[in-house]
Amino acid sequence: MHTICQPAGEESLRRAAALLREGQVVAFPTETVYGLGADALNEGAVRAIFAAKERPADNPLIVHVADRGQLEGLCEVTDIAEKLMDAYWPGPLTLLLKKTDRVPDVTTAGLPTVAVRCPNHPVALALIRESGLPIAAPSANRSGRPSPTAAAHVYEDMQGRIPMILEGGSCRVGVESTVLDVSGDVPCILRPGAITQDMIARVAGDCTLAPSIMRPLREGEHAPSPGMKHRHYAPRARMTIFVGDDEKVVKAICERYDAAEGGWILAQDRCLPALGERRCLSLGRDAQEGARLLFQRLRELDEKNAAFILAQGWEAEGDALAVMNRMARAAAFDMIQL
Ligand code: TXA
Ligand code: MG
Repeated sequence: MHTICQPAGEESLRRAAALLREGQVVAFPTETVYGLGADALNEGAVRAIFAAKERPADNPLIVHVADRGQLEGLCEVTDIAEKLMDAYWPGPLTLLLKKTDRVPDVTTAGLPTVAVRCPNHPVALALIRESGLPIAAPSANRSGRPSPTAAAHVYEDMQGRIPMILEGGSCRVGVESTVLDVSGDVPCILRPGAITQDMIARVAGDCTLAPSIMRPLREGEHAPSPGMKHRHYAPRARMTIFVGDDEKVVKAICERYDAAEGGWILAQDRCLPALGERRCLSLGRDAQEGARLLFQRLRELDEKNAAFILAQGWEAEGDALAVMNRMARAAAFDMIQL
């Protein structure tokens, strides 16, 4: 299959929407990462997403809508969900709600809930509106690869597998949306994102974190969100994360780097001078910039054939939790606290 890449515009949006209505798969930008979209209510179309991504069939998809009205007939919107939508939609917040029979089991991997989100990106919203469909979309990477934050990353992974990629620049947030379980009395974050625990607690009164956000699932432990049990975001090279005081982190990273050949460093801007001539890529000034850059950096390090990666991390809390959740998985939880 030939894959065309086109900047989002009136003509290309019409073409992409027509493909979606025919049951085909189209990649498009959102504020978090690029998505691999298809008609959420068309079983065959949803199966084509799983095939293009080589995604395990037990990992459910997020259904993207342009507004709340589009949820009608798809799921039961609770009071607390309503309040959270008021506060954070459109935006990087995915809510798990009880689904109706209209949503096919392939979309939700047989679960009784459906994940729904309204992306805060003009191209995503225009595409959903133009197609008139709720769009099921996982991140547009091949399973196990870092999520794509630019159209070029989607092309790397999806070339020849899908008919069209809509281009819309680099993604502003850079890590995927917060996935929130709102079925209990207190909402629970299953996957951290740019909408933080504090931001949810401010609206819902309280908010908890799933225990496996910063550690591997234990043998036999139930995965609250199926995506958490699959290997994720893995660069080819082994990665180790160092967290703590700048000076100690720089010292520990330099020692490891100097003891072997072929290593690369990911560090925050203020530590770059202290790393001297060592091979290094920036993770920006703060955790938000780190989130925006991380997946791109992991792809770059694959290209450079890094033998091993030494990365400076943040304390896994507040608005750094999202980026640290991704980094920890990329490093298979090899983290050193200094
Ligand atoms: O920012 C995002 O959320 C991006 C953009 C494209 O919107 N999408 C994305 O989709 O990250 P994906 O498929 O890569 O991740 C969806 C996550 C998975 O971990 C999946 O297991 C979980 O959400 N999920 C989806 N439906 C669920 C459900 N009904 N119950 C529990 N977890 C669910
Ligand atoms: Mg994904």
